[in-house]
Amino acid sequence: MFKLAVALISLASLVTAQVPVWGQCGGIGYAGSTVCAAGNVCTEYSAYYSQCIPGSNSAPPPPPPPTTTVSSPSSSSGTGTAPTGLSSIPASTLFQFSNFGTNPNNVAMYVYKPKKVQSSPPLIVASHYCQGSAQAYYSGSKFAQLAETYGYVVIYPSSPHSGTCWDVSSDETLMHNGGSDSLSIANAARFAVSNWGVDPNRVFAVGTSSGAMMTSVLAGAYPDVFKAGIVDSGVAFGCFAVTGQPEDSWNSQCAEGQLILTGQQWAQKVTAAYPGYTGARPKMQVWHGTADTTLYPQNFYEEIKQWTTIFGYPSNPISNATESYLPGGYSNATYGPDFQAILAQGVGHTVPLYEQQYLQFLGIA
Ligand SMILES: *[C@@H]1O[C@H](CO)[C@@H](O)[C@H](O)[C@H]1NC(C)=O
Ligand SMILES: *[C@@H]1O[C@H](CO)[C@@H](O)[C@H](O)[C@H]1NC(C)=O
Repeated sequence: MFKLAVALISLASLVTAQVPVWGQCGGIGYAGSTVCAAGNVCTEYSAYYSQCIPGSNSAPPPPPPPTTTVSSPSSSSGTGTAPTGLSSIPASTLFQFSNFGTNPNNVAMYVYKPKKVQSSPPLIVASHYCQGSAQAYYSGSKFAQLAETYGYVVIYPSSPHSGTCWDVSSDETLMHNGGSDSLSIANAARFAVSNWGVDPNRVFAVGTSSGAMMTSVLAGAYPDVFKAGIVDSGVAFGCFAVTGQPEDSWNSQCAEGQLILTGQQWAQKVTAAYPGYTGARPKMQVWHGTADTTLYPQNFYEEIKQWTTIFGYPSNPISNATESYLPGGYSNATYGPDFQAILAQGVGHTVPLYEQQYLQFLGIA
């Protein structure tokens, strides 16, 4: 089903000779036109996303350069004195690790440790998109590069399924300690806390597309492990649920934005994933493009209903503003300290990454 969707999207983009303003015009996996409509310039944001920006001089400035540096307590003067267990991991390279706990589907797990690690460092778990891999997300994003500045650790899981989507649909993956891919990823994060000295209060999840859906799954089913989630072009927790199908099934109803529920119904899916849990919920930031034809933009509004209900926030944002570091077509709707929803006008699947901004939301930068 997903392959069919991809084929249809590629076909549709062939007949579109010129990309309209704010539309996608390049990037890894992109098969459409690279020619922007008159008056626009194709501007690269990341390895897998270029966008048509009006004029030749109006491209937004790159995110501000990092201003903080890694604090250098005595425990971070070299690999030999890094937090317990981390010293066995080579620095500044993508390194595969195993034996991190129950791993039902044999999800391959990779870690990136920067040269200088904070004492009790934060952890970012970065989940890739369909057709992607740990390696592709590592090289196509700035999470590892920025770890060198800020001293956090990154885990990149790699999907074992054909087509490399994540299981975000099975009963097992949608249940706390229920099994499948989400359990493997949660176990890797737990392992990092108990063996690498990672700060349990600074374990975060981010992801793009299928990895964004996985991020919602981790936030919903493992609120005790993950303290924040950043969902780039995903869906609400539980939206992709399919019973009695292969684990990584595609859910067209959800993808096409036809699964429309109330905030209460969405929130119930989250609370049912971990019955009895009364602790804090991870703070969430969701990003979505209005021209997304893989995971339709209605999913953005369903996510808003879900998380505002979970946090007990009003359904209308406190503020909804443009941001100077984002293209003019972006709006940032803030509902409270723990939930923000950024809508990118005219942007398709997926919204480019704003890693530096994510680090601010996560309290790392
Ligand atoms: C924020 O404002 C933009 C532009 O007016 C609008 O398109 C978008 O739907 C608003 N966001 C939310 C979440 O209501
Ligand atoms: C959205 O707006 C809030 C409130 O001004 C701000 O704290 C936050 O950093 C903004 N988020 C993004 C992604 O720019």
